Amino acid sequence: MNAVEVRNLRKVYGTKVAVNDISFDVRVGEVFGMVGPNGAGKTTTIECIEGLRRPTSGTVRVLGMDPVHERNALQQRVGIQLQQSALQKRLKVKEALQLFSDLYSNPAPWQPIAERLGLSASLNTHFGDLSGGQRQRLNIALALIPNPEIVFFDELTTGLDPQSRRAMWELVQDLRREGKTVFLTTHLMDEAEKLCDRVAIIDHGDIVALDTPQNLISTVDVETRVLVTVPEEAVAEALARVRAVPHAIRAESKGSEIVVHGSGDALPVEVVNALWEAGIQFASLKVERPTLEDVFLKLTGRTIRS
Ligand SMILES: Nc1ncnc2c1ncn2[C@@H]1O[C@H](COP(=O)(O)OP(=O)(O)OP(=O)(O)O)[C@@H](O)[C@H]1O
Ligand SMILES: [Mg+2]
Repeated sequence: MNAVEVRNLRKVYGTKVAVNDISFDVRVGEVFGMVGPNGAGKTTTIECIEGLRRPTSGTVRVLGMDPVHERNALQQRVGIQLQQSALQKRLKVKEALQLFSDLYSNPAPWQPIAERLGLSASLNTHFGDLSGGQRQRLNIALALIPNPEIVFFDELTTGLDPQSRRAMWELVQDLRREGKTVFLTTHLMDEAEKLCDRVAIIDHGDIVALDTPQNLISTVDVETRVLVTVPEEAVAEALARVRAVPHAIRAESKGSEIVVHGSGDALPVEVVNALWEAGIQFASLKVERPTLEDVFLKLTGRTIRS
């Protein structure tokens, strides 16, 4: 069974088409990511799946249920972190955690969750006094309280510092190991690439690609680049040598830096071997592999930030 099934989902606000006839499944136990730029339709999609917004047309099933009409039954089985959510300013962190625990029939103990999310020192702080990153971490903690089968994260790490971001990545990987299904949205391509089993790229309300990050990267045929610096007098020979390796497509030099364009995982090793065999010393080896960012650029003609 699929954890989530979306068929021909469409959501229109007035004349604005936010989501245009999208269909996809999320498998049980996978980390599924929806990535795309601001305004692409990620929050609209995830909130239709959560039952918080009503689709204009199309159907959504979550654990086989209708998220709008069977909301109460579903609520016990899913965890939701909203992109924007506010609690009562005067509510203390520990009160929020306890309050949420009381809502569920089989809650996970909140103390270890608070500890995990780095909230132990803030338990007596009022929600209104929390920093943006602390609020975000509290919202993630609250999403875990129901001991859910599926967890929805809308912009998991937006507003978090690099250290908290890495901690959230580990959290998602742990949830996956525990067999939970994770549906997350992000505009960070590296986050999607690192965390997700499968990624749907959404742009202007359409899914433009959906596959594993590896397949997405290999299907768009973007190049791997290997950059090495060699002594001035060896540039000509180095160029000839690296151009001859099996996975090189072309190579050029900029001063004493050589840039080899090619494909595949073997290219860096081939370049290093070719230089080594020719007795050419090299320094500052750098490999630039294609990323999901390149995939987005190739599919839409834009970088995700523009
Ligand atoms: N309640 C609403 N009323 C009217 N328009 C809306 C509403 N919610 C979203 N939109 C519009 O629908 C489009 C998709 O918005 P949505 O919030 O789903 O995008 P998003 O991908 O989550 O963006 P972000 O990365 O900024 O969170 C945008 O053009 C947005 O302005
Ligand atoms: Mg959003």
